[in-house]
Amino acid sequence: MNYIGSKWSLLPVIGRLLDEKSLRGGVFCDLFAGTTAVGQFAKRRGFQVVSNDWQHYSYVLGRAFLSNNSYPTFSRLFEAYPKLAAIKTGVLNQPPLPLFDKATEMTTRLPLYQVTNWLNQLTGREDGFVYRHYCAGSGSQRNYFSDENGQRCDAIRGQLEEWQMASLLTGDEYYLLLASLLEAVDRVANTASVYAAFLKHIKTTARKPLRLAPLPVIESSLNHKIYCSDANELTRQMECEVLYLDPPYNHRQYATNYHILETIAVGDSPQLAGKTGLRPYANQRSRYCLKTEAHHAFTELVKQAQAHHIILSYNDEGLLSAEELQHIFQQRGTCEVRRLPYKRFRADKDRENRCYAPNKAVNELLFYVRIEDQAEWAA
Ligand SMILES: C[S@@+](CC[C@H](N)C(=O)[O-])C[C@H]1O[C@@H](n2cnc3c(N)ncnc32)[C@H](O)[C@@H]1O
Repeated sequence: MNYIGSKWSLLPVIGRLLDEKSLRGGVFCDLFAGTTAVGQFAKRRGFQVVSNDWQHYSYVLGRAFLSNNSYPTFSRLFEAYPKLAAIKTGVLNQPPLPLFDKATEMTTRLPLYQVTNWLNQLTGREDGFVYRHYCAGSGSQRNYFSDENGQRCDAIRGQLEEWQMASLLTGDEYYLLLASLLEAVDRVANTASVYAAFLKHIKTTARKPLRLAPLPVIESSLNHKIYCSDANELTRQMECEVLYLDPPYNHRQYATNYHILETIAVGDSPQLAGKTGLRPYANQRSRYCLKTEAHHAFTELVKQAQAHHIILSYNDEGLLSAEELQHIFQQRGTCEVRRLPYKRFRADKDRENRCYAPNKAVNELLFYVRIEDQAEWAA
């Protein structure tokens, strides 16, 4: 997913740091998970992951990629709709079924391909929330998706809810399909990158038909946990080996930049406001995005952390300076900082709407703290 502050490109550096400090197992808590990229990386490395973000779309991704440990069988759904289970490999044509290497992989993955393929064939709906509020053809005055894609999104979202209400899906199956819908929606959104504005004319990628792709499952035998809470609330109740922190570092609130994904994830019909159709977000206004509050929020968080090691990603143009952060960390242990050249997210704008040069190199700061007062909370 195209996400502000996503750490996909920093994973190798985070991996090197974990190796250097011999951090190889135990609970890894990703408190500001976003796309869950870092949690997925930690899961692959054998950690037991606790993932948290107060945006519901992140919870959906966490359920699909982290707490879900195996490919779905859709046994209840297939029992109710035997026709769906009878789809044969040769009949599946959209998206084409990839060639599986091994027969066992084919058996494990086929149900997901069958269901995804079936959802992709649904006829669009004109009475759904996305079409009525975010597509120009409905008279909404908003142009976030082509009419066809808005209607398709509503049809798939409605079908998932119907199956869920009828108890035809397990929780893991429901979230895996919903995560697939969020990723598909994001690929065809008619925006420059985030949902704070839509483009006047439908761009080329937004004209492509919305298609679910079967998501890869990260197999694991550990019990990974997903939360959708305020980070500062959760940290009081959480003990872990590694606490990974990646809070927002500037004024941009994620709730306003990803409001449509949030609505699709929650599946509600909120009262919308303004030209862009914002859902209410009073409970998701982050203190980490406010100059007056970021320092206090961060100090409180670090003070309450019950972890052996803390890793923080931050930006050297953030609301808090490297010196301020170091000072906060030094209350808990020894702190190291690395500066990594990092390409700026292409839609970076500040509160005054000044657009920064895309791809200009800036420094990503990576802090490592070894907590030295563990006895106080680990007793
Ligand atoms: C920089 S992004 C994290 C990106 C993530 N590491 C990734 O690779 O995708 C910051 C995240 O913090 C979340 N957030 C901001 N304030 C929060 C709070 N008080 N509690 C929980 N999540 C919060 C936002 O929703 C956003 O997803």
